[in-house]
Parts: sequence; structure tokens; C-alpha cells
Amino acid sequence: MHFEKRINYIEEYKYHEKEFDDISLQHNILSYIWQGDYSSRIQERLIKGNTKVIDLGCGTGQWLIDMSLKYPLSTFIGIDISSRLFPSQEDKPNNVAFLQYDLLEHPGIPFPNETFDFVYLRCLSMTFEENDWAHVINEIVRVTDINGCVEFMDFLCEGGFKGPIMEKLCSSLISFLESKNIKPPSTTKLTEYLNQTNQISNLHLEVKSSPLGSWGGKLGELMLSDYITTFQRFKSILVSFMKLSEKEYDKLLSELENECVKYQLCCYTYRLYGNKTV
Ligand SMILES: C[S@@+](CC[C@H](N)C(=O)[O-])C[C@H]1O[C@@H](n2cnc3c(N)ncnc32)[C@H](O)[C@@H]1O
Repeated sequence: MHFEKRINYIEEYKYHEKEFDDISLQHNILSYIWQGDYSSRIQERLIKGNTKVIDLGCGTGQWLIDMSLKYPLSTFIGIDISSRLFPSQEDKPNNVAFLQYDLLEHPGIPFPNETFDFVYLRCLSMTFEENDWAHVINEIVRVTDINGCVEFMDFLCEGGFKGPIMEKLCSSLISFLESKNIKPPSTTKLTEYLNQTNQISNLHLEVKSSPLGSWGGKLGELMLSDYITTFQRFKSILVSFMKLSEKEYDKLLSELENECVKYQLCCYTYRLYGNKTV
């Protein structure tokens, strides 16, 4: 897909007026579940300063803003194909900068080799076509400094759900994405791409489960509302993909809360992180 097509695709499917609030909610939920913003062993360097961090596909830049406030002596860069959600100049700390750039543009990430001490990438698994991942990962590793850290965080799409409605909605969404050649990479596949570079070691995978729906208290309610928002955002596509009327689709969404309680549904998020050694 060329830049123009890609940006139209993103605007068409991902935009709705509350998007900024929804992404902020998701950012806060993820920070709460993980009790922190990252798992890589980089805290001392971030505190000490002069440490360079890049967030690829940064969206609203919430993660960067939190990090830059916590570590004022380090420098933070966010890249996204769309600048639509970037904070305004007044709303961002001085140690953060944003750059509109398509990560799939060739030759690649617009920085020299070994520029960054920490390369971070969150919730991009539904973004790239299957054969783009090797290129993106090679670029990530290229711009990471020796001894630098790389970290991926996302929702785990492997394994499916016990609840029939959730399973139907998630598998339809994944089938739709696959029809566009977009396939969320499994953690095994990501590990394989990273290993193929022969430059990443100490790879760790951490997974956390979180309840969905009211049986999991406030966190469960918020997490479910995040899922429902995603399904609402994809409504116009999924109704035709699933051959349902809008009414039938809304009914499915309204039944999700009961299903989550009945099956005590959980969702899983992961962090995969390692170091560049050569
Ligand atoms: C689901 S959002 C995740 C945003 C952020 N990482 C977070 O966790 O809140 C995916 C982001 O990837 C961006 N994106 C999609 N394709 C991209 C590309 N080819 N190059 C750069 N950014 C891209 C989208 O514009 C969007 O902001």
C-alpha cells in the first residue's frame, strides 16, 4: 500500500470523534495493569539523562509525555504516519518531539544507525501487512544503540476467547484484517524476526491477564468498554463482513457484559523486550 492509501485507510477505519479520549483511556489502563510504562532494564539510564528514546506509531504521544515528565534529562521522539493526534506545542514538555513519518517508507526510520537507547512500540499489531514486519524489525534494530533496549507491547491475539460472542467478534475482526493482508504477529513470530537479526539477546516475554467486565471491578469495566469501543469503531465494516444488520450487531455488543461475567472472560497483554548486543 502506498502512503496516501495507507493514511486514508487509517483515517477511514480508525477515526471517530472520541478517539483521543479512547486512546488515553487505553494508555491509562495499560499503565495500571502493568504498574509502570515499560519492562526494559533502562530506568537508571533514563534517570541519569542524555538517554534517547523513540516511540514508533506513537498516536497521541501519551506514553512519551508521561515518560518525558518522569525523566526530564532524557530525550523522547514520537513518530506516526498521522500527525492528527499529536499534542500541540504548548501541551508537550521540551524534551519531546514529534515527527510525521510512514514507518514503511524506504529506506526506513529516518535516523542514523545506533541513534536510540530505547526503541518502544505499542499496539501496532493490527497495523502492518504480514510481510512488512521483517523490514520494520530490521529498522528497529538498526537504529538501536549497542546495549540499547527494544520493547514491544500489545494485546495477545493468540488463544481466542471462551465466550461465543467475544470469540465471534474477535475472529471476524481478525479475518477482516487478514482480508486486507494485515495479520497480528504472534509473540513467537516477533521473537523469530528479532532472533533473525542476530543482534538481540536477553529476550523476555511477560504476559498479564486482566478481567473483562464487571466481575473484574472497575478495571474490568473499563477494559470491556475499551473492547466495545473498538468493536463500535469497526461496526460499519463488521456488519457487512459478519452479514448482520446493525440492530443484530448492537444486540451482540449489548450481550457482551453478561457473557464476560458468565465465562469470567479475561484478556491478555504482553511485553516482549531485549537488548542489542552487537
Ligand atoms: C492503535 S494506535 C497505537 C498508538 C500508540 N502506540 C499507543 O499505544 O497508544 C496505532 C498507531 O499506528 C500509527 N500507524 C499506522 N501505520 C503507520 C505507519 N505506516 N507508520 C507510522 N505510524 C503508523 C497510527 O496512525 C496509530 O497512531
